[in-house]
Amino acid sequence: MKVTISVLKADIGSIGGHIIPSQALLNEVKNFVRERGKDFIIDFYVSHTGDDIAILCTHERGTNDEKIHKLAWDAFLAGTEVAKSQGLYGAGQDLLKDAFSGNIKGMGPAVAEIEFEERPNEPFVFFAADKTDPGAYNLPFYLGFADPMYCAGLILSPKMSEGFTFRIIDVEYTEKDKIIDLNVPEDLYDIAALLRDNERYVIESIYSRSSGNQAVSISTTRLHNIAGKYTGKDDPIALVRVQGEFPATGEVLAPFQIGHLVAGFMRGSHTGPLMPCKLNTSISYFDGPPVVTGAAFCVNNGKLTEPADVFDHPYWDYVRNKISQKASDIRRQGFSGAAMLPYSELEYGGIVEKLEKLDKKFTYKN
Ligand code: F6R
Ligand code: MG
Ligand code: MG
Repeated sequence: MKVTISVLKADIGSIGGHIIPSQALLNEVKNFVRERGKDFIIDFYVSHTGDDIAILCTHERGTNDEKIHKLAWDAFLAGTEVAKSQGLYGAGQDLLKDAFSGNIKGMGPAVAEIEFEERPNEPFVFFAADKTDPGAYNLPFYLGFADPMYCAGLILSPKMSEGFTFRIIDVEYTEKDKIIDLNVPEDLYDIAALLRDNERYVIESIYSRSSGNQAVSISTTRLHNIAGKYTGKDDPIALVRVQGEFPATGEVLAPFQIGHLVAGFMRGSHTGPLMPCKLNTSISYFDGPPVVTGAAFCVNNGKLTEPADVFDHPYWDYVRNKISQKASDIRRQGFSGAAMLPYSELEYGGIVEKLEKLDKKFTYKN
């Protein structure tokens, strides 16, 4: 059976700052999707990571489907009304456009979708990150799909030895999608040269070269490119099919033990380590640290199992402790140098205005 998994995600309000959505808000979104989607979605799962709510659903309508996108848009609008009625912070924050025009892309919410012919066993992982941007997935998925130091399957599994195709998008180009397809192993250095720049070049999708099947879909929204001003970090989501011709679940998870430094954290303007957290984790220290959660499922004729929480294991407690130290280390240097993002990535204009004023006060002397 050909099935599509769509995940649509937005920050539409949260309790106590940019921390966590309320239960009433989550319930509203859940009930809305259950009621309004009952004739055309097969199954769904509504969750939150930090202050973001994600609607994951399965259906047979393909990717970029107007009905699916409108269902999510309307669910987020209904949720926004609840958020407003509760006085939640940032109600409707990510809904940047007034009227739905056929596709939720470019309207604020993030989207990741894959359509595929179901294998007899079909496991996948849904990742959601908060307080960071789409480039946060560059390193872990590069390592998980291209580096045998992390992905043993690249040398051990005949199905994987042909490698993968990475589709990379230049997110600074906003008129159209500017993309390039590169193959591992032969284009490895070119891929690395692009992916080092997490703010500009972002993995959009990954495909198995042996079967041509899609393994990965990542949301590549850059909110400030849509709104032209600060509207929060993009908080990217990703769908990753695993096992068989794709890396094993544990190979995809392995690079997350690095706690690599990403853009985001407080006011979307800092550098901090990405912490793999349990499902339903909220946001705390310095509006962070940037977090990523993973819910693994199996799907059969579009029906989902319950989620398995991939970072809920004693191993990851040890990792989280180390990453907490890393977060404290970089925070100790406050605004200085690498701890705060360069001007082009600062999400607040305040410092630019300040520098413009100060510039006028400089004097020149030989
Ligand atoms: C980062 C984020 C938060 C806010 C911060 C200030 O993406 O959401 O760190 O930037 O809490 O929020 P405002 O400007 O809404 O007071
Ligand atoms: Mg927010
Ligand atoms: Mg968020």
